Amino acid sequence: MAAQLLAVRCQNLTKTYDAGGQKVIALNQINLDIATGELMMLVGPSGCGKTTLISVIAGILDQDSGSCELFGENLQQLSSRDKLRFRAKNIGFVFQAFNLLPALTAVENVSVPLIINGMKRQAAEQKALSLLEQVGLGDRSKSMPSQLSGGQQQRVAIARALVHSPRLIVCDEPTSALDHKTGNTVMNLLKEVALQQDRALVIVTHDARIFEFADRIAEMDDGHIVSVQAQQRNQG
Ligand SMILES: Nc1ncnc2c1ncn2[C@@H]1O[C@H](COP(=O)(O)OP(=O)(O)OP(=O)(O)O)[C@@H](O)[C@H]1O
Ligand SMILES: [Mg+2]
Repeated sequence: MAAQLLAVRCQNLTKTYDAGGQKVIALNQINLDIATGELMMLVGPSGCGKTTLISVIAGILDQDSGSCELFGENLQQLSSRDKLRFRAKNIGFVFQAFNLLPALTAVENVSVPLIINGMKRQAAEQKALSLLEQVGLGDRSKSMPSQLSGGQQQRVAIARALVHSPRLIVCDEPTSALDHKTGNTVMNLLKEVALQQDRALVIVTHDARIFEFADRIAEMDDGHIVSVQAQQRNQG
């Protein structure tokens, strides 16, 4: 039997920042495998390297050393053009600070990944609207980000990360601005996607209320992964 394809394989990842002349080791020899069909959560104290790790995994940031493969592909070996194309097609990313485009409406923001992948505007906006409906924002599609609450902006960011059905979805604190009920709606939507065989989901969180959704929880501290524990999946 063929081995199951890994969604993510990080080997000996190291990343150091220069913070005003001071060296900060954000990632220190990280090894982590994430299987397809898996929902991996990443926890740990502020500043331990969580955002750095998922940024390297998603190809937003280059590591200093070590390797990271996504679905068997080493992004660092691709030309910058092929890397952009690979990321646009295969990765959805929810930023800690949402990063919506301020001059675009909610539905236009969510359409962006589809348009980048070549879909016509009208079809893209139709699909984007259906995602907004799934996160409970069907009636706010024409609002600008500045007209939305933090939790509403966060849900637009989540819709944008899912709209092009990427194989890897990476979320940085996706429920930080959401109440319990809305957080559960979003997690159920994310879990539905992650349960698909060829997909995977990585979620950075401090929110203990959503731990039950994880397959495994990796705990980071000071640039290291200190434990990886399997969770009992809640089939709810
Ligand atoms: N651009 C940067 N320049 C310099 N240092 C940075 C930069 N980005 C992050 N760091 C440092 O790297 C370390 C890891 O940061 P990172 O953002 O990955 O932490 P985190 O676990 O996501 O924290 P939080 O839970 O607060 O979001 C921290 O010490 C941080 O100050
Ligand atoms: Mg962070």
